[in-house]
Amino acid sequence: MIRYYINPNIKKGTIHKDIYGHFAEHLGHCVYGGLFVGKDSLVPNTNGMRNDVVDALKEIRIPVLRWPGGCFADEYHWKDGIGPLEARKRMINTNWGGLVEDNSFGTHEFMELCRQLGCDAYVNGNLGSGSVQEMSEWMEYMTFDGASPMSELRCQNGAAEPWKVAYFAVGNENWGGGGNMTADYYADLYRRYATFLKHFPNGKHPEWDKTFKIACGPNADDYSWMETVLKKAGAYIDGISLHYYTVPFDWNIHGSATDFDEETWYRTLKNTLVMESLLTNHIAIMDAYDREHRIKMIVDEWGTWYDTEPGRNPGFLYQQNTMRDAMVAGINLNLFNKHCGRIRMTNIAQIANVLQSMVLTEGEKLVLTPSYYVFKMYREHQNAELVDSYLKSPETGMGGYEVPQVMESCSMKDHVLNITLNNLSLKEEAILDVVITPVFEDTTDVSEVPCRSIHGEILTGAMNTHNTFENQNQILPKEFTGYQTNAGGMRITLPPCSVVSLQIKQ
Ligand code: AHR
Repeated sequence: MIRYYINPNIKKGTIHKDIYGHFAEHLGHCVYGGLFVGKDSLVPNTNGMRNDVVDALKEIRIPVLRWPGGCFADEYHWKDGIGPLEARKRMINTNWGGLVEDNSFGTHEFMELCRQLGCDAYVNGNLGSGSVQEMSEWMEYMTFDGASPMSELRCQNGAAEPWKVAYFAVGNENWGGGGNMTADYYADLYRRYATFLKHFPNGKHPEWDKTFKIACGPNADDYSWMETVLKKAGAYIDGISLHYYTVPFDWNIHGSATDFDEETWYRTLKNTLVMESLLTNHIAIMDAYDREHRIKMIVDEWGTWYDTEPGRNPGFLYQQNTMRDAMVAGINLNLFNKHCGRIRMTNIAQIANVLQSMVLTEGEKLVLTPSYYVFKMYREHQNAELVDSYLKSPETGMGGYEVPQVMESCSMKDHVLNITLNNLSLKEEAILDVVITPVFEDTTDVSEVPCRSIHGEILTGAMNTHNTFENQNQILPKEFTGYQTNAGGMRITLPPCSVVSLQIKQ
């Protein structure tokens, strides 16, 4: 029996909706085929965007989308992707399969996609191979509502109104594919580029004026990168990124997405839990250089990375998605919730047909992945208040890959408690004795009875269960009834290998 304490009277910060953000790169069939099929496609679409995918992503309340990369961002020249389609310049996508990119999905198409999704735009600029002028003009093109060379060009291309650019990143992985820079050199460049990224006033939407500027942060545990960039450029930074991928073995042996043994299950989860120490250690550095908590952490690439599915182009990073990915998503999202004081946004990689996807597509067919369902089950955390919660979990695992058996987080919104739980064990159920402190009487949500109405959902299955184009409903969330209420709270029985969400009305 595990005692699980929840005290809704102690609020620990807002879980920003953008913690549930996504990422779309010009990589394999993420953008082309996954999100965008073009107006003339037989796949049902609106202005070229797949209707089925847009509908599915609206269901999980996608709050923000990062684009156009990734590595692609640092070789992307935005002016190649505007204007009449037939006149758009072609380029080679050198990072991902060496294919010719026809630039038919550019700034206008991205903004149209965000409009249809009802989400914010996060644009990643080109520092690696682009000029200061190019970056600064992109911002002017997208956001200026007065008369200027760039805003007039935008109008000529059919968009009279400027767009909201909620976030803009100055380069991607500039310690690697984005220029192999040192932290010192990057910090100097960041200062220069960011200076010319102006905030253009928007008369109709003054709240859109200030785009949140993101600096390239470290790869995983490169603490020295974090420290140097904050020390040299912190005054000009709103957010700093962190990239960490879960690979079951190492960067030479990724392993299969679907064919793995129990030891590899625990190994993968142990590797995903490295995120916890990365967050703690990087946040400690941020605390030292930014005592006011002004600069936010942006985990704009995370998720699993396996071998590309056999028979597919290795440069396309297409992989299946199983219950293991659902668990990885559930664990990370619980961790991000717990660190919401510093974390403003995260973007799982990537949204369609690449790495840990939400959706897989093949022609007209669509598969919703177990990871998709976790985002759906967790969506009530968006913009909720993190509340104090604690449990001491026993360990589970094998072969030296021990992990906590149960992970959790808890938030409150509109007088509803949202609890999300993960049982990482493949064999053992977990029984939680939940003690919920009644809400203090000076609020409107006075309650003597902690649990008045409860809605629960569970995602569970064998560790490598996944949905396919032939069987799209192999793994789906079901109603969860494994709880009994009592005077102090409730008792919950989590089956092995499960992700559970509960909404409790007080
Ligand atoms: O998400 C795939 C790639 O991983 C991105 O392009 C890059 O930023 C990272 O290395």
